[in-house]
Amino acid sequence: MDKFILRGGEPLLGTVHISGAKNAALPCMAAALLTDQPVILENVPQVRDIQTTRNLLAAMGAEVELGYGRAQHRTSIHCATLNAPEASYELVKTMRASTLVLGPLVARCGHARVSLPGGCAIGARPIDLHIKGLEKLGAKITQEHGYVEASTGRLKGAEIVFDKITVTGTEDLLMAATLAEGETILQNCAREPEVADLAALLNKMGAKIEGAGTPTIRIKGVSKLKGAKHRIIPDRIEAGTFIIAGAMTGGDLNIAGCDPTHLDALLSKLHEVGVKTKCTADSVRVMGDNPFTATDMSTEEHPGFPTDCQAQFMALATQAEGTSIITENIFENRFMHAQELVRMGANIKIEGRRAVVRGKTPLSAAAVLASDLRASASLVLAALVADGETIIDRVYHIDRGYEHIEEKLKGVGAQIRRIGEMFPKKAAAVR
Ligand code: EPZ
Repeated sequence: MDKFILRGGEPLLGTVHISGAKNAALPCMAAALLTDQPVILENVPQVRDIQTTRNLLAAMGAEVELGYGRAQHRTSIHCATLNAPEASYELVKTMRASTLVLGPLVARCGHARVSLPGGCAIGARPIDLHIKGLEKLGAKITQEHGYVEASTGRLKGAEIVFDKITVTGTEDLLMAATLAEGETILQNCAREPEVADLAALLNKMGAKIEGAGTPTIRIKGVSKLKGAKHRIIPDRIEAGTFIIAGAMTGGDLNIAGCDPTHLDALLSKLHEVGVKTKCTADSVRVMGDNPFTATDMSTEEHPGFPTDCQAQFMALATQAEGTSIITENIFENRFMHAQELVRMGANIKIEGRRAVVRGKTPLSAAAVLASDLRASASLVLAALVADGETIIDRVYHIDRGYEHIEEKLKGVGAQIRRIGEMFPKKAAAVR
């Protein structure tokens, strides 16, 4: 298993370029199942979850090409015929977002067999709301041997109110409704930018969707969708991660190719802490090593503070004077990074959904373990300011959602190297 070796103390200086959003690319790839024409996606990030989705679609009979040349980062997906509309446990257990194929498969093929995702490090992650919504659209659904089996004639439009706001639940039902007979109204929808990006692709494919990005989405079903070409939006979570990295290291970092309008809640919270930023239409510059002051933060659905930046914010809070109370409202177990930060010298107490962080505490290098995608990012941030060389193990977690993060960090002055099977045991010595 690959590891990162990271020597702290260097301010990040220069420009880092943000990749396409993993959480927009995944539903957009699943959307290709809805048509027998080719769908071409650009600005697709080169991350493990994209490769997993490629394998999942190919196993169903789709032709999937992934190209990562300089100008490319594109994938072309052609689901002319789907001879196996199913997602196996082997694949789903590595990426629960595989459940995004459920809605499109039921709508396109009239049946689907998708493994239940099972839990993951951050929580139970049920998909009961996906299933309830598909039943409202007329699908017959059974669950046995760890699989969801769905079958239907043509889905019928319905009015669906989500009991809880769910991002992939909204996306799953949005995709299924595009081919349903009649109109579907989805209420209490997720408003994340990735939902709007998926709707933009679906409308290019001939769907009739209004209101994506708001709590109420109306879909007029059509009988067929066509192929389309679409550029994936920038990854707001990767951008947020690098903004916090620039702030914590007291650097002067330009985060280019992002969309600051997707980052309002994060930027306003960082300004409360004392982080100074300057935005243009497609970049955020974070400057200076002014002292940080503690503030409270609660994660909320978009446009609130994103849960996917909670771990990264906690790393920053360890360097802020005073007590920060961080409340995680979305997932029941998303503080796995806290104990690793404590091993590096942080002062954090977990009380249920709240983490009480007392700063500022100097951090010292340690051997730490990544547990999930965003927890790993917070360990990288802590290592960037820790005294000495931190070893982060199981970095495959971070490879799921960050494209070449060590190359991007090295490019702006971080002393980081990767060691592991896929890379020479003794990588070039840290500069
Ligand atoms: C999406 O996950 C993202 N993944 C997650 O990003 C993100 O953390 C999450 O939304 C919240 O923003 C993708 O988009 C691929 P939810 P998702 O359904 O859709 C409960 C990352 O780091 N719920 O919005 O699975 C659920 O348990 C990942 O990139 C039900 O109860 O999250 C949770 O408490 C991690 N029943 C809450 O809703 C359901 O049927 C929100 O979950 C569905 C969800």
